[in-house]
Amino acid sequence: MPNTDSLPWLQRLPPALLALGAQIMALLAVATAAIVLRESAGLPLPAWIALAGLAAALVSRWLALPGWWQLINLTFVPLLWLTLQSAIDPVWFLAGFALLAVTSLGAIRGRVPLYLSSPRAATALAARLPKHAHLLDLGCGLGGPLARLSTLRPDARLDGVEAAPLNWLIARLRLSGRARIRLGNLWDTDLSGHDLVYAYLSPAAMPRLWQKASSEMRPGSQLISNTFAIPGVAPDEVVELNDLSHARLLIWRMR
Ligand SMILES: C[S@@+](CC[C@H](N)C(=O)[O-])C[C@H]1O[C@@H](n2cnc3c(N)ncnc32)[C@H](O)[C@@H]1O
Repeated sequence: MPNTDSLPWLQRLPPALLALGAQIMALLAVATAAIVLRESAGLPLPAWIALAGLAAALVSRWLALPGWWQLINLTFVPLLWLTLQSAIDPVWFLAGFALLAVTSLGAIRGRVPLYLSSPRAATALAARLPKHAHLLDLGCGLGGPLARLSTLRPDARLDGVEAAPLNWLIARLRLSGRARIRLGNLWDTDLSGHDLVYAYLSPAAMPRLWQKASSEMRPGSQLISNTFAIPGVAPDEVVELNDLSHARLLIWRMR
């Protein structure tokens, strides 16, 4: 099956853009077939809708998109059609979109969505933090780990940076007086002043994070990633959290 190995420029495009391209190609193909064959094929509208979903999934597969993108494209047009049959006020869709935009700006640009560390992650971080250390949560989300750390380790200096405005606001209000929460881009944040940098990001961010940490973090400081590994760089230690998501902390001591 052809895939993006034979078309290297495709590999450089964000998967969301490829998925959109697959959806448009499939819709155009099925709409053209529907117009040309409408009389002879004799298919009812729901069958054309199902075909559009199937075609989008096949194009996504041809583009070597991950399985969950294929599933999204398979169901997108059929679900859209079903939704249009219902009497839901469009304002709800606008509200849903606005909520996604203010909580997931990072996911759209940097492929890092919002999901939350379990309390066990913060407990394990608290146990590793040297006395009076300075910790930074890169992409601090709603501030959960920092809130727990501020209780467990009142001696520590805690910082967070967050790009999504609503997440930042929640973290900031929640941690007022306990941690410094900055609205901004983690890639513009200097890591040199921190003893421990915590990151719960996504596989897509890890190679760039390692480059940044290697060039900015001081010898002896620790980079700790929840769940996501750095390709080709073995961690110095792994701590199983035994939480519901089977998460683990991967720890690198900077040299
Ligand atoms: C997986 S969540 C982790 C949240 C929190 N650290 C925790 O462990 O509960 C990742 C967070 O990083 C934020 N994020 C993504 N890209 C970012 C960027 N470039 N700069 C700052 N924050 C970013 C997302 O908005 C999201 O809130």
